[in-house]
Amino acid sequence: MAETRFLRDYSPYPFRVRKTRLDVTLAPQGTVVSSRIEFERAGPGPLVLDGGAGLRTRSVTIDGAPLDAAHLIMTGETLTIAEAALPARSFTFGAEVEIDPEANTALEGLYLSGGIFCTQCEAEGFRHITWYPDRPDVMAPFRVTVRSDLPVLLSNGNPVAQGEGWAEWHDPWPKPAYLFALVAGDLKAVSDSFTTMSGRKVALNVWVRPADLDRADFAMEALKKSMRWDETAYGREYDLDVFNIVAVDDFNMGAMENKGLNIFNSKLVLASPETATDVDYERIEAVIAHEYFHNWTGNRITCRDWFQLCLKEGLTVFRDQQFTADVRSAAVKRIEDVVTLRGRQFREDAGPLAHPPRPDRYEEINNFYTATVYEKGAEVIGMLKRLVGDEGYRKSLDLYFDRHDGQACTIEDWLKVFEDATGRDLAQFKRWYTDAGTPKLSLSEDWDGEAGRLTLRFIQATAPTPGQSDKPPRVIPIAVGLISQNGDEVMPTRVLEMTEARQDFGFDGLGSRPVVSLLRGFSAPVTVDRAMTAAERAVLLAHDTDSFARWQAGHDLAMDALVAMAQGGSADPVFTHALGGVLDDASLDPAFVALVLRLPGEDEIAAEIATRGTTPDPDAIHRAREALAAELASEHERSLSDLYDRMEVPGAYSPEAEPAGRRSLRLAALGLLSRLDGGQRAQALWDSASNMTEKMGALAVLVRLDRAGAALAGMEAHFGDNRLVMDKFFSVQPMAAPPARAVPVAKALADRPDFDWKNPNRFRSLIGGLAANHAAFHALDGSGYDFVADWLMRLDPVNPQTAARLSTVFETWPRYDADRRARARAALERLAALPSLSGNTGEMVRRILA
Ligand code: PHE
Ligand code: ZN
Repeated sequence: MAETRFLRDYSPYPFRVRKTRLDVTLAPQGTVVSSRIEFERAGPGPLVLDGGAGLRTRSVTIDGAPLDAAHLIMTGETLTIAEAALPARSFTFGAEVEIDPEANTALEGLYLSGGIFCTQCEAEGFRHITWYPDRPDVMAPFRVTVRSDLPVLLSNGNPVAQGEGWAEWHDPWPKPAYLFALVAGDLKAVSDSFTTMSGRKVALNVWVRPADLDRADFAMEALKKSMRWDETAYGREYDLDVFNIVAVDDFNMGAMENKGLNIFNSKLVLASPETATDVDYERIEAVIAHEYFHNWTGNRITCRDWFQLCLKEGLTVFRDQQFTADVRSAAVKRIEDVVTLRGRQFREDAGPLAHPPRPDRYEEINNFYTATVYEKGAEVIGMLKRLVGDEGYRKSLDLYFDRHDGQACTIEDWLKVFEDATGRDLAQFKRWYTDAGTPKLSLSEDWDGEAGRLTLRFIQATAPTPGQSDKPPRVIPIAVGLISQNGDEVMPTRVLEMTEARQDFGFDGLGSRPVVSLLRGFSAPVTVDRAMTAAERAVLLAHDTDSFARWQAGHDLAMDALVAMAQGGSADPVFTHALGGVLDDASLDPAFVALVLRLPGEDEIAAEIATRGTTPDPDAIHRAREALAAELASEHERSLSDLYDRMEVPGAYSPEAEPAGRRSLRLAALGLLSRLDGGQRAQALWDSASNMTEKMGALAVLVRLDRAGAALAGMEAHFGDNRLVMDKFFSVQPMAAPPARAVPVAKALADRPDFDWKNPNRFRSLIGGLAANHAAFHALDGSGYDFVADWLMRLDPVNPQTAARLSTVFETWPRYDADRRARARAALERLAALPSLSGNTGEMVRRILA
């Protein structure tokens, strides 16, 4: 069991690193890393360096002289040199170690992916490469020589020199070891250049395997867009002569912001109309932007320690969300982000894994790359921006970049910048960073007709979370507007600042009782509890000027209908009728209409039922959702079929927001119409479509109807050797199959020779796909739980980080009935009992079971 680390135990490193010099000779089984690190004393204490058990240490020197073994203590994790054995002020530490990239299946440190040498060092991967102070507050300029016969040799910073079989790179910007990167392989690039706002020309390359070269242009366009956007929106300019992106097939996460050398999961780089969907394109653009934006928020200004992870991640997610909102549709992007936040972060916050955006303890930092750190971290910044205004935000960010460039910072530094720039006291606001849990905001309304006065009475309450029982009130920015019963806006958006546990806000001069449009733009990450009639919701769905609140009204209507149906009741006809109004309103953005048509997911319905204090039944929820879809289809057949025809996008495929929005509405209509036509349209679309968006939309329908045999065979015949497309083949089947079929289908897929389960994308596609089929994963007989647990047991010794991450699919187990709880618990306990279980998965399973 790994030891727990605490935020309160932080102490600065007793040395500064002046320069780091690496010389790496690559070989699959015996890569030699020789290092020279120039240290300068900054405080008392021994020299402690981090390093993994995988380092075969051949020599250790101080100022070139071999170190006497008596002065050196080496454990599996650290190397310590006593203060007495070190020169007083400054010295150079040298080491030569040998490592084995080919055996590295954990994909942390230096490893091989399809013949490409690459690295992943965040959070603590550099210690698997050589001995080093592997902590983010130790920053140094790096000079790196890479030696290999492979044609392309890359590292951070600018190229300095190269010759036959070697290349030297220099990164002048001091950086922590987690931003180190090295790549060597038989790669080809899409190349371009970018001229920065001050006129410097930067060489840009997107490196991929030669066979993938025709799928890298979109990533390059996204990179240039991102670079320009950061200049215009934040005044941030790029700071090296080159910017390299490399795509690899084996990667634990999405992508990594290594200075000047971003390394990406190939699924977030490669795209062509025939192989990638609209959602893939949007995601690629957003992640390219995200990693690029880290150059300032993460790299130039980094984190003091890993407790501060949301300092860089929350801010960078916030920035990539702003970017996507700007280059696509802001209204649609906001709704998508809230759907993700609720689906992942609210779910996390409501269960055993709840933690604050800035945790104060962890066993394994890799387990804290969570929706709370990322997505809630971004929401908190959105609230801050709303509270200080656009101008205050810009002033604060300018001060942040000015004051902290080159530093490793804390959340305290971040908040202080806002306080100094705007004069606002943020002591109470800070609770958003330190307290876990999603506040519940309850609203009751008091209408005084005679005085024309509406009083909104708010109560905020946050349920206890693991380790935090006391939840003092937070600052909640509540954006509200008022809409008259016949749909006119009688009060435009106003932001109420709630700071107390209970607080009232009054509005005067109202002629008649309005409908309150609450939490416009989703102004705070809270759940809302308010009594509202379906008719009032329908008013908002038809007339709200705030597109988020408008979508929310429709979503609430759908949710009420689904909860009622899952509990044996029926849908309020007001919902079906109101939806007709949306379908027939030609002035609406098709992407928005598609979002309104998308019914809440089964997991979200289960969460809502649990919130309302009853036990969700996954089978009943599945049936309810199917039944509501069928009801909507027959009620609106004409409009839907009309939409399906009208939303066809003629001409060549473009991944832009407008055509993508039309396709998403077309596919939403297709999904509903398939309840009536038995999948006839879907089959026709599968046969005729030339882009992957429509192909996958059609395929999901065919799989759900259990008539996808021919389509799947065709897909395999055509795309059998395309890993990214085959990942879709592996995920759509368990995910969309009828619940009773899903586990057998998943088992059959797992038996295929091309189920390359050591590849994280492939593993996630199949195992994660099954877990995303709510009624199948939560099957009463426990077959879903067992299937997933068995595979986690197999993956854990090979790749603990990905196994631990996937174990979160179990985090909702406490919300179900006693039978399911017992089955889930048994599956988790089998996992926990593995004698060799990794620290990563061990921590997760213990927390999930606690
Ligand atoms: N820092 C990366 C990002 O958010 C995520 C990551 C974390 C990648 C850990 C790999 C390992 O952009
Ligand atoms: Zn990031």
